[in-house]
Amino acid sequence: MNEKLRIKELIQLINKANYEYHTLDKPTISDYDYDHYFKELVELEEKYPELKQEDSPTQKVGGSVLEGFNKITHQVPMMSLSNVFDETELRQFDERIFNVASGYSYVTELKIDGLAVSIIYEKGLFKQAATRGNGVVGEDITENVKTIKSLPLKLNEAIDIEVRGEIFMPHKSFEKANEERMSNDEALFANPRNAAAGTIRQLDSKVVAKRALDIFLYTIVDAQNYVNSQKEALDYLQTLGFKVNPYYKQCHDIDEVHQQIQLFDDKRKTLKYDTDGVVIKVNEFSLHDKIGYTAKSPKWATAYKFAPEVAETKLLDITYQIGRTGKLTPVAELEPVFLSGSTISRATLHNEDFIVDRDVRVGDIVRIHKAGEIIPEVIEVVLEQRTNQTPFEIIKDCPVCGHPLIRKEGEADYYCSNDDCPAKNIHGLIHFASRVAMDIDTLGEKVVETFHELGFLNTIYDIYRLETFAEELKLIPGFGNKKVNKLLDAIDASKNQSFDKFLFGLGIKHVGAKVAKNIVKYYPTIDLLKEAEIEALIDIPDIGEMIAQSIVSYFSDEQNLKLIDELKSFGLNMTYEQEETIEHEFTGKTFVLTGKLESFSRDQAKAIIEKLGGKTSSSVSKKTDYVLAGSDAGSKLKKANDLGVTVLDEQTFMEKTNGLY
Ligand code: IVH
Repeated sequence: MNEKLRIKELIQLINKANYEYHTLDKPTISDYDYDHYFKELVELEEKYPELKQEDSPTQKVGGSVLEGFNKITHQVPMMSLSNVFDETELRQFDERIFNVASGYSYVTELKIDGLAVSIIYEKGLFKQAATRGNGVVGEDITENVKTIKSLPLKLNEAIDIEVRGEIFMPHKSFEKANEERMSNDEALFANPRNAAAGTIRQLDSKVVAKRALDIFLYTIVDAQNYVNSQKEALDYLQTLGFKVNPYYKQCHDIDEVHQQIQLFDDKRKTLKYDTDGVVIKVNEFSLHDKIGYTAKSPKWATAYKFAPEVAETKLLDITYQIGRTGKLTPVAELEPVFLSGSTISRATLHNEDFIVDRDVRVGDIVRIHKAGEIIPEVIEVVLEQRTNQTPFEIIKDCPVCGHPLIRKEGEADYYCSNDDCPAKNIHGLIHFASRVAMDIDTLGEKVVETFHELGFLNTIYDIYRLETFAEELKLIPGFGNKKVNKLLDAIDASKNQSFDKFLFGLGIKHVGAKVAKNIVKYYPTIDLLKEAEIEALIDIPDIGEMIAQSIVSYFSDEQNLKLIDELKSFGLNMTYEQEETIEHEFTGKTFVLTGKLESFSRDQAKAIIEKLGGKTSSSVSKKTDYVLAGSDAGSKLKKANDLGVTVLDEQTFMEKTNGLY
């Protein structure tokens, strides 16, 4: 077949498969076929870039990295909704409408807990997407919204239209995103809404494409130009190819609305995404202006907010977990109870202060909720039901190895004082092998635990000695030839993993993935890093006293140095391979930034300098090549002048770097 026609055919085929999978939730082709078609299309588009179409599914993988978000003024402001919290308030809402209008019905919709977005299509093609912002001015998130799989890039009709809806993160993607953050030592997203909002504000659209956001559309701007009622609008949105939440209903009176609310207060617990209420809208558009608006919200609509889900159950025991860094976490062991879609038997108690502040005691009846609807947490004790429980006292010794626990002044957590604590070792091994560090396929939590129990694994060093036990490993139930060979191959391949991932894998306290990435740029070999001093380390972006201290202390420990030497002898890569930089007069030069910059942030300026192979440092010395000085620069500028360091103003810096980044 003519390749031009084939591109067209593939685009149609893949878009249809995407629609059936992501919008209708009814897959029609196998992942295998999908991947093949996709690959074929990518190859053809590479060969004939001029034939790439605007609605091609290859547009959805992300790619552009922005420096910030542009502002967009909404042609029609994005309003918010008033709230009602119980049946009385709901009926008052209806009465207010009854007083000014007649012959109306309602449409109820789920209130999706995400973030609102307004999207413009021209001639049926996706053009622009903006956040709500303050309702009048939002931010341009076009590139990120483009990556949402269920959002069509081309509508079924070639019309100009602006639509609005809610971007959200389904529970599954949320859990995955948090798992990744946990292993990166990054703060967890508190709930799917924060995760969705955080993701949509990512400057790198590839990250957004990976996070699997989804969208339900619920509004057509100036809808009366297309249809007569909200129900028709929702139907029309679907005809155009949009994903609309299926649980909407036309209700003929407020009793029916109330029934729907009760139904969904229960049903929401089984959904794969968060909803925090039911939105009630007068269905007939002809009545909207008559019912009117307040400054912030329409009077013809409101949101019934569900009360957050809470359950009561008995606290059977308080147990403890020791993490990779030796941190102790008290855990509530509960009589199993059903809450927000799952049975809960454990909840976090965070730390000693959390328990003491709430006076939680074993045997109490406690209230629990899902923090962000996902991780269960004990909120409080039902004191009226307390009998004669004894006050809580935290344990003194590590529950795993028996060494004393230590809580440093100013810190909330206890840590096991034993460097060789098996709990630390196991978690350390799991972390080292994980996808985000050395990426040793199949050496997951369960396998590490099994090997540890059988005495094959105790330290990272043992991972690279596993091949000497290959025959014994093959005898472990559930392993066998194929699995062991695959594992050993993955271990071998991990020796070439990048230096920053290795460094991150070592599990040095406070050294997360990002910090590791920064460090290797300044200390490109482990031998240089071993000798690093605190004063020099804190010159690295994002590295403060605490991290620097932790690194120096890690490399002053004989046992750690021995481990590194051993790993070196196994051939592990401990050298940073520089990403390609652009050859420029700033390559290899050291900059100090000072004063207020107008056209970009300091981080952006740093990124430009680094891209050009330069470095930034926080203090001016004889080694400084340039000082980039914004307005109100103070002592650093003076020092630069004293030392005769070249000073660049913002304008000159921009001219010298123009078009290079
Ligand atoms: S209608 C004029 N429908 O709730 C009001 N909003 O405070 C337009 N939301 O900003 C909004 N699900 O982010 C509407 N089915 C739904 C919704 C919904 C979630 C959000 C939206 C809005 C907020 C209202």
